[in-house]
Amino acid sequence: MNPPIRRIALNTGGGDAPGLNAVISSVVWAAVSRGWDCVGIRDGFNGILQPEQYPDGGVVPLTRERVRGISHLGGTILGTTNKGNPLHYPVRRPDGSLGEMDRSGDVIDYFRRERIDALVSVGGDGSLTIAHELAQRGLRVVGVPKTIDNDLDKTYTTFGFDTAVSFATECLDRLHSTAESHQRIMVVEVMGRYAGWIALHAGIAGGAHAILIPELPFDLERVAAKVRDRDARGRSYTLVVVAEGAQPLAGERAVLAAAEVGHAERLGGIGEQVAAGLARLTGKEARVVVLGHLLRGGSPSAFDRIAAKRFGTAAVRGLAQGLTGVMVSLAHPNVVYVPLAEVAGRMKAVPPDSDTLQTARDLEISLGDGGAHPSLA
Ligand code: F6P
Repeated sequence: MNPPIRRIALNTGGGDAPGLNAVISSVVWAAVSRGWDCVGIRDGFNGILQPEQYPDGGVVPLTRERVRGISHLGGTILGTTNKGNPLHYPVRRPDGSLGEMDRSGDVIDYFRRERIDALVSVGGDGSLTIAHELAQRGLRVVGVPKTIDNDLDKTYTTFGFDTAVSFATECLDRLHSTAESHQRIMVVEVMGRYAGWIALHAGIAGGAHAILIPELPFDLERVAAKVRDRDARGRSYTLVVVAEGAQPLAGERAVLAAAEVGHAERLGGIGEQVAAGLARLTGKEARVVVLGHLLRGGSPSAFDRIAAKRFGTAAVRGLAQGLTGVMVSLAHPNVVYVPLAEVAGRMKAVPPDSDTLQTARDLEISLGDGGAHPSLA
């Protein structure tokens, strides 16, 4: 039986996403209303593991006063990093090369020493895998699912995704008129890592004519055929949305930087390849817009603010009920708790039988794979 909670810590890890501040604020409000103290760890776990980097404190008090007026702001007041996994913490070896070591024990010791009873960990697949491991090692942990990519398993959606999709949609709305005026192909590259959620949703919402996602390796000739078909019907411009992780049938994924110790590989560049290929195949002008980190910035949408506040308060309710090793999750229409063990190390790709994919096909949006839906073929 766990002792009652008096003090909790909160951290944000991985790439930032709109809604993080709304989670922080709502956790603090719900915790304080139960009489708990709340502290925030700076930059993932770095505030604990590299305290010398933080002259003002690597772990800071989070009061209601401190979190007032932040819910509508992008980013995270705690800072974040995707280079500070305590289980594989980067260390410089005496010979100057980079190695890694398990520093999870240091995190757990810190919690014991500072009498912090539990952790609310807000993050994506990497952070929630860390949260799972820390829970396995005895820390009381509740995870909150964050990522613009929407690629976390066991939740209908993550917060941050809706804002990213809304922004990409607005960009597509703006590109229609310039593409049409110049009779061009416009290729819009969006983030999403190895999942096509942002591309698929924004592409459908923004009226794209082709959408290329990692789940369906594409044949550029099929996209070129779509461009030619539109031209033949007097529609002499085409908008293509390509996910950064999309991959040609005969070719490689576009990688900007290979993975290194403590850092995943960086994707990017497929937009340029697609534009150059389409220009070659169709003889038309093609231009590329890479939305990149713009998708991570700005104020969270109303949907993401609500999701963030529901998740944040549910995380505190879960801890109050004695839960640990779980993630709050949207099982539409309710927020529920799922074991972190079912989330850690897994990725939610767009399923081949998704009705959203079928929607794209029925709207005659090219997915570059040329096929009817596999389930219908
Ligand atoms: O996971 C969020 C995300 O924005 C991905 O869509 C993208 O591939 C990655 O992070 C970029 O990470 P970084 O900011 O480290 O370049």
